[in-house]
Amino acid sequence: MLVPREPGVAPGQNLWAGEKGVKNKSGREKIKVLGIAASPRRGGNTDILLDRVLEGAASRGAEVEKVVLRGFNIEPCRECNSCQKTGQCVVEDDMQLLYSKIEEANALILASPIFFMSVSAYAKAFIERCQAMWARKYVLGRPLGKESTRSRRRGMFICVGATKGSRLFEGAILTMKYFFDAIDMQYHSNLLYRNVEDKGEIKDHPEALEEAFKAGQELVDFEKEPLHVSEMMSVRPTIEDTLKAQKGRQRCTPLSA
Ligand SMILES: Cc1cc2nc3c(=O)[nH]c(=O)nc-3n(C[C@H](O)[C@H](O)[C@H](O)COP(=O)(O)O)c2cc1C
Repeated sequence: MLVPREPGVAPGQNLWAGEKGVKNKSGREKIKVLGIAASPRRGGNTDILLDRVLEGAASRGAEVEKVVLRGFNIEPCRECNSCQKTGQCVVEDDMQLLYSKIEEANALILASPIFFMSVSAYAKAFIERCQAMWARKYVLGRPLGKESTRSRRRGMFICVGATKGSRLFEGAILTMKYFFDAIDMQYHSNLLYRNVEDKGEIKDHPEALEEAFKAGQELVDFEKEPLHVSEMMSVRPTIEDTLKAQKGRQRCTPLSA
């Protein structure tokens, strides 16, 4: 089941030009943003943050769509390696509904809780099934996306964990680094929150919701180079920056000490 969201009003900027697709009032193509919710909890912390990011992107005119993985039947990769010959996955399940959406998206946001120091199993199965895209890119030499926009596809990672350890997000971030590379997206930014556990608890932190809204706006601001890194902002320009920050000072937002 796909859960489409209302597109926002386009301000006439930050939009892709010259592609076929949905147009805004000024006749320019809309940026397509795909949000992937990978928590088993609807209305959980990462789900709420994802909604805010999508609202931010929509407020800048992007066409946004949300996919809730819990409603999909997606097997993990079978490692049959058929995709290395064809670039296609042979597993006939709901992932087949998503391949073209991933390919067409100008930006993709994956929102997952930390489960056992990694992403959720929903996220992991989804990521593994993007092996077909890895094979297209690295085995068959046929990268994804339209040539004109390929280098500008962007990925964002939203993640929440209950504990406070300084290395909490390291494993998940590394997975996301390889995921975004496989689907030919620049790893644009993270929203990472530690020390948040109960369902919907993130709502007690309006600053996080505000940050998420702004991060959604910045994600689709393709005219601006990404992003400023400040002590309290959990968005970062590059994954290298993120990994450096994880080693030194913590730049993800610690909610309550
Ligand atoms: C199976 C499971 C494993 C978890 N593993 C971790 C963990 O390794 N580290 C951590 O800090 N929190 C862990 N958590 C807590 C969740 O990351 C936390 O509750 C988060 O806020 C859930 O986000 P959600 O509401 O979007 O699902 C785990 C929770 C569950 C249910």
